[in-house]
Amino acid sequence: DTMRAFLRDLPKCEHHLHLEGTLEPDLLFPLAKRNGIELPAHFPQTVEALEDRYSRFKDLQDFLDFYYIGTNVLLKEEDFFDLAWAYFQRAHSQGLRHAEVFFDPQSHTTRGVSLETVTSGFRSACARAEEELHVTSKLIMCLLRHTPVEECMATLTDAQRMFEAGELHGLGLDSAEKPFPPELFVECYERARSFHPELRLTAHAGEEGGADYIHNALDLLQVSRVDHGVNAAHDAELMERLARDQTMLTVCPLSNVRLQVVQDVGELPLQKFLDAGVPFSLNSDDPAYFGGYILDNYVAVHQRFGWDAATWARVARQAINGSWCEEKRKNDLL
Ligand code: ADE
Ligand code: ZN
Repeated sequence: DTMRAFLRDLPKCEHHLHLEGTLEPDLLFPLAKRNGIELPAHFPQTVEALEDRYSRFKDLQDFLDFYYIGTNVLLKEEDFFDLAWAYFQRAHSQGLRHAEVFFDPQSHTTRGVSLETVTSGFRSACARAEEELHVTSKLIMCLLRHTPVEECMATLTDAQRMFEAGELHGLGLDSAEKPFPPELFVECYERARSFHPELRLTAHAGEEGGADYIHNALDLLQVSRVDHGVNAAHDAELMERLARDQTMLTVCPLSNVRLQVVQDVGELPLQKFLDAGVPFSLNSDDPAYFGGYILDNYVAVHQRFGWDAATWARVARQAINGSWCEEKRKNDLL
């Protein structure tokens, strides 16, 4: 319809996308076979059964249990390339222009896959996306917050050269939010800041955790944006702070519904953020698991909020302005 076409043609930027979360069931099973990986006995055995199970996640942890099993089928550089390239093509067909994408090195290095293998595959896909699709991108390495801090520190050491070379653009923090608050990772973020003066910092906070997680990510980790962050809406002082500092929240509507953060997209405080001047972007998080890519998230929001063209243009502009790309690229997108 015309609204979908309008939203498709908006210049869209995505800032909250886990590359491992783009593993579609129809790639997962062939990769498991190609790499001789046996899936657990309880794991659904067909694409249909798996998709059905994905539609019934209880919460974040229930999803993560599946997400980490899926991750196990990724072994070779070409697996990482195939995964990311499939994402870029799909998102490009939905009007994506720029993406800042997460990956979880620890979920691979603990299986004996080197960081180099993972990033080489991803970087090749990013280069091809820029050349062939004119989609620009940045890689953000995430630390798994359910793992010991010493392991996270070792992962940072492993990645130091890549940060210094600008091959990795930012640091994030993901996985089970509770009971792993931001304050556990102060040392990790300090270390990362020492690698490169322009290294960008973000963290998942305020998805299942409360507004205190967001305060602490800002104060203690010194992040310049917040992933999810929807629970900020319960804290008036925090809302003022986010608006004053123009700290962007990377909101993931379909994810929030699938993981039962809210029961319906209409419950998200998006109008409240707009009215208060708190910038946000709309993102797909783990599109293979949550039933939609970036445009599907825009459409779902439109169905509930019914914004006019001027408001949608403002939402798209906020996402461009909150991106970590060069000023020249931002101006091209605006
Ligand atoms: N890992 C992948 N997706 C995630 C999410 N939405 N929250 C926390 N960790 C994640
Ligand atoms: Zn996420």
